[in-house]
Amino acid sequence: MPKVLVIHGPNLDLLGRRQPEIYGNFTLHEINKHLKKLARKEKIEIKFFQSNHEGNIVDVIGKAKDSFAALLINPAAYTHTSVAIRDAIGAADLPCVEVHLSNIYARETFRHTSLIAPVAAGQICGFGIDSYLLGLQAAIKLARPKRRLKPKSRRRSKPKSRRRLKPKSRRRSK
Ligand code: DQA
Repeated sequence: MPKVLVIHGPNLDLLGRRQPEIYGNFTLHEINKHLKKLARKEKIEIKFFQSNHEGNIVDVIGKAKDSFAALLINPAAYTHTSVAIRDAIGAADLPCVEVHLSNIYARETFRHTSLIAPVAAGQICGFGIDSYLLGLQAAIKLARPKRRLKPKSRRRSKPKSRRRLKPKSRRRSK
């Protein structure tokens, strides 16, 4: 079973009572509960980590490679400042999805830059708790071993449009 590690950055432990007009009313515990439910449905394992300390987050990412298949991270304020977390993700060589509850591009200009985005597979922001749920779905796709899909045209023996090659008249004369 693939395992996804969810990392919550600083001050996200305050969710529920921290600026609910920006971050919504869900507590971190409730967000984790919804993520767990989705993980159960998708038959993947999920683990959670929250810290207000940059070094702790760097340590956890550094150890993730051996046990996890993908990372889902809301780096919170460290999104905009942390070269250390960016380097840790780059070094971990694990697919990583970056999420934010708020739309960071519709807020103060210092939030418009994410140092994490260039080392993430992608970023989802602005959808509240749904950013996490969509982010987990993306992380699960990245965590699962890839199934090679063939393009449709190669799967079918003959493309539909070319099935009747012989003109009707020739078929009748046989
Ligand atoms: C945040 C956005 C960051 O700019 C902010 O520092 C946070 C939360 C979000 O989820 O919207 O703490 O990452």
